[in-house]
Amino acid sequence: MNSIRVPFVNLGLQYQGMRDQIIAEIDRISLAGQYIQSPDVEKFEKGFAHYCGTQDAVAVGNGGDALYFSLLAIDVGPGDEVIVPANSFVASAWAVAGCGAKVVFVDVTSDYNIDPALVKKAITPKTKAIMPVHLTGRPAPMNEILEIAKQHGLHVIEDAAQAVGATYYGKKTGSMGTTGCFSLHPLKNLHVLGDGGIISLNDTKLASKIRLWRNHGLKNRDECVFWGRNSRLDSIQAAIANLKLPLLDQWNDRFRAIAGRYSQELGEFVSVPVDRPYEHSVFHRYIITTEKRDSLQNFLTERGVETKVNYPIPLHLQEAAGPYPVGSFPVAEKLAKTILSLPVYAEMQDSQIDIVIEEVKQFFRKKI
Ligand SMILES: Cc1ncc(COP(=O)(O)O)c(C=O)c1O
Repeated sequence: MNSIRVPFVNLGLQYQGMRDQIIAEIDRISLAGQYIQSPDVEKFEKGFAHYCGTQDAVAVGNGGDALYFSLLAIDVGPGDEVIVPANSFVASAWAVAGCGAKVVFVDVTSDYNIDPALVKKAITPKTKAIMPVHLTGRPAPMNEILEIAKQHGLHVIEDAAQAVGATYYGKKTGSMGTTGCFSLHPLKNLHVLGDGGIISLNDTKLASKIRLWRNHGLKNRDECVFWGRNSRLDSIQAAIANLKLPLLDQWNDRFRAIAGRYSQELGEFVSVPVDRPYEHSVFHRYIITTEKRDSLQNFLTERGVETKVNYPIPLHLQEAAGPYPVGSFPVAEKLAKTILSLPVYAEMQDSQIDIVIEEVKQFFRKKI
């Protein structure tokens, strides 16, 4: 294999640009010894809620726990069902199963997001919530989902782990459901230096409950309301998130600009993501589809362009899911065989974007 010319991500570049500020924050918090629940956490919660347009936000240890605590807070438990798209990261399903509830998968549409027509069909008297996932940074069809939820008296827990900053008819993803759940994992558009997560919401009661869940169920140092977990966002991570939040929109603009160039140049060779006027996708992943996915991926690897498949095994075919028989969710299964994620990150150089475009074109010129 040739040396890597375009890595799939390059986290070091963002760190390099912010190194002095980050080190100063680590120093400040370390000297004060306030590693846990310093005022930096509350500052991030307030800033993030403002950014999302919600009344409150609760910072937690990771995006999976953001989903899990949201479901616990609305009393999802054994005997309940939660509807989840078959095409997502495993944590979407775990959060439901972790509460003891049944994960009810439904298929997606060709834009990778949950199919509202199938959500309707999957509702039973046991359904408690719908979990749309804004996969790849593209908003799920929230108008339809919210309408279905309203008709059936269901909660909507938005998995916005991949979609921080995206909008749908002008509303931020994560601001439309009962809660919005975000991951601050290093591969996300807004990330800390390790694991982190945050929940945006407008319900003060739920927010208080989640604040208990993330801190052992303790209402103060000594009194425990229920047996909770430890899943807080560390003070240093919160301070780093505070440094980064004001830069998020400009980073997302860069993601969108790179996606725009890919779509313009590659649309005649592969299927490229749709661009709808009412959505502002943040392209956490830029995914093309082609029947020649495996040979294209091998070719790009040979040419030093790193790519990934998000995700090669749909949730319902994971061992953890049962699994279901092949053919249960045909769109998700077809996507798993044809999708390819191209490198996209704010620090990508124009010359690297050119390389990716040129190599994809080269592949099709040679093969067709
Ligand atoms: C769609 C989705 N949901 C949930 C998660 C879980 O987030 P975390 O890794 O922070 O637990 C992720 C992270 O990869 C994700 O992409």
